[in-house]
Amino acid sequence: MEEKEILILAIESSCDETAAAVVREGREVLSNVIYSQIDLHTIYGGVVPEIASRKHIEKINQVVQAALDQAGKKLTDMTAIAVTYGPGLVGPLLIGVSFAKALSFAAGIPLIGVHHIEGHINANYIENKELEPPFVCLVASGGHSHLVVVKDYGEYEVIGRTRDDAAGEAFDKVARAIGLGYPGGPKIDKVSKQGNPEAIHFPRAKVVESVYDFSFSGLKSAVLNYLNSCQMKGEEIDQADVAASFQKAVVDVLVEHSMAAVKEYGFTKFAIAGGVASNSSLRTAFEEACEKEKVTFYHPSPVFCTDNAAMIGTAGYYEYKKGARDGSDLNAVPNLRLGE
Ligand code: KG4
Ligand code: ZN
Repeated sequence: MEEKEILILAIESSCDETAAAVVREGREVLSNVIYSQIDLHTIYGGVVPEIASRKHIEKINQVVQAALDQAGKKLTDMTAIAVTYGPGLVGPLLIGVSFAKALSFAAGIPLIGVHHIEGHINANYIENKELEPPFVCLVASGGHSHLVVVKDYGEYEVIGRTRDDAAGEAFDKVARAIGLGYPGGPKIDKVSKQGNPEAIHFPRAKVVESVYDFSFSGLKSAVLNYLNSCQMKGEEIDQADVAASFQKAVVDVLVEHSMAAVKEYGFTKFAIAGGVASNSSLRTAFEEACEKEKVTFYHPSPVFCTDNAAMIGTAGYYEYKKGARDGSDLNAVPNLRLGE
C-alpha cells in the first residue's frame, strides 16, 4: 500500500502574530498565513498581552481556515496538528493551544505541542533542503538570544543564553529611545544604512563565567547614557549614527560568540534564526565570518525568521516522526525551556 503523505496543520500564537500553515513532509510549505497585530500595539510602544489575546481569539478561526484553503486541503486531510505551547505570553499561547486541542478532539487528529524556539531553529530546514543536524544555531528574537547545538532532529543543547535582555528586546528599547518607535529591529536596520557604525563606541559585554552567554542590558544603558549626555550638552544626536553604532555592537557580539562555538564544537554548518536573524548587517557579518572559517552559513528568508506557523509545522513534523503525541491536558507553558 502506498504510504500517505504527512500533512501538518500548524498554529502559532505565542506573541502578536496569529499564524497558521500547512506543511507537507516536513519541509514543503503549502500555505503560510500570518495575521500581524503590530499596528495595534505600535501606539503602546510594545505588545500589550490583553490586546494580543483578544485579537488572537478574533482571528484564529479565519487564519486557520485560510491556511487550509490556500493549501487546497481540508481539516480531515491533516495527519497531525502542531501548536506552539511555549515559551511566550500565557494568554496568547492559551488561545492557540485551546483552539488546536478543540480541532484535534473534534476531528480525531493527533496533537503535538511544539517549543517556539525549536520552531525558529527548524525554519532553516524549509528553504535549505540539504541541511541536516548536527550544526550550531544562533536564535535571536524579541524574547530570546540562545546559542544552540542542534545534535539531531528534536535534540538540542543550549550552550549560551542571555543573562538579561534578548537581542531583539535591545533593538526595540534603543529604537524607542532614539525616537524610531516599535518594532525597533527593522527600523534600526533601515536607518543604520545611512549611519556610520564606527561613529560611537558602545561596549561589547562579556560574561566571565560563560563564554557563550550574552548580556545586552549594559549596551542599552550605554546608549541611554549617551543620549542623556548629548541632551545635557545641548548637542543634537545623529539618529543614524547611534542606530548603526548600536547595531554594530550587537552584531559583533553575536558573531564573536557564535563563531567561537562553531570552532569549539568543530561543526562545518552554522544557522541563524528568530526575528533578529532578518537583520541585514547581521547576515552580511555572518556571511563573511563563515566564509573565512569555511563554514556553510544557513539562514531562513525574513518571513520565516519572524514568527510564523510554517516553522512550527516543520518542527511538528520531526516530533511526529519521533512519535511525540500530546493529549487534551496539553497546557501553555510561558517559560518553557529548550533541551530539558
Ligand atoms: O522571532 P520574533 O518575530 O518574535 C519573538 O519570538 O520574539 O522576533 C521579533 C524581534 C523583535 O524584537 C524585532 O525588533 C526583531 O525581532 N527584528 C529585528 C529585525 N526584524 C525583526 N531585529 C533586527 N533587525 C531586523 N531586521
Ligand atoms: Zn519568535
